[in-house]
Amino acid sequence: QKILDANHIYITACGTSWHAALIGSYIIEELLNVPVKVEYASEFRYRETAVNTDSVVICVSQSGETADTLAAIRKAREKGALTLGIMNVVGSSIARETHCGVYIHAGPEIGVASTKAFTAQVTIFNLIGILLAQKKNSDVEIIKTIINDLGILPRLVQSVLDQGNHISAIAQDFIDVENFLYLGRGYQFPVALEGALKLKEISYIHAEGYPAAEMKHGPIALIDDNMPVVFIVTHKGYDKIVSNIQEVRARGGKIIIISSVMNKELENYSDHIIQVPKINHCLQPVLTTIPLQILAYH
Ligand code: BG6
Repeated sequence: QKILDANHIYITACGTSWHAALIGSYIIEELLNVPVKVEYASEFRYRETAVNTDSVVICVSQSGETADTLAAIRKAREKGALTLGIMNVVGSSIARETHCGVYIHAGPEIGVASTKAFTAQVTIFNLIGILLAQKKNSDVEIIKTIINDLGILPRLVQSVLDQGNHISAIAQDFIDVENFLYLGRGYQFPVALEGALKLKEISYIHAEGYPAAEMKHGPIALIDDNMPVVFIVTHKGYDKIVSNIQEVRARGGKIIIISSVMNKELENYSDHIIQVPKINHCLQPVLTTIPLQILAYH
């Protein structure tokens, strides 16, 4: 109830967890109609903030040991905020130093690059969102849809994982590139950021994630046949993202498409299309991120 009564909610994290936090902020803002501010923990810990006893500060950390995130949470506690942790490692420092929290139970994340922890973090934000929305009697329809989609999510995730060979074949066409641009809109913008981070962390190829519409304010100047672009396409903003795709095509950019939209039109723009099942937009990032994790790996 304290979270529902909060004047403002902050979410603070680092790296991949920060991308999950951004998606979490969209979910909470949409389901609860409450403003949410997402902060890099390394900035939040040193910045003069408005955090006070009416604040709720959520922190996301797979390891529960990231120094910047721990410092940010300590600062929030000193200022009297309610602190909530979303961690994977049970008994970690952040788990011990937050007032309350949720373990994502993703199992040990072996690699430095967070993969299953990220998809589990997004899932947990959906659960937190619908729990709070039920308490607030928010729009019941979307709650029912998310609950339904959570039930079929494991099977849908498996259907994406089964595309490993297809994604590997696509990766072979791009092993010599030195730069990548990842573009997405709405809930898929954090997915674009995460896809770019995975490529940097796993393949040591420079990559940048951007809001698709923002491309025309700068990055479009870089598009040529040496600057491939990954587009994440969903029904939300479909026509606009297709026009972004056409702008890239006009400049000779090679395109990879991750799409939850099943239609033939996209085949006009790319020979490298990875289809994922369509689910509620709050959960869709789970299914659109996995191909990007596999792409970076190959
Ligand atoms: C970075 C890792 O060092 O820490 C990222 O390279 C990770 O993959 C980030 O997302 C945050 O880690 P954690 O454990 O706080 O989620």
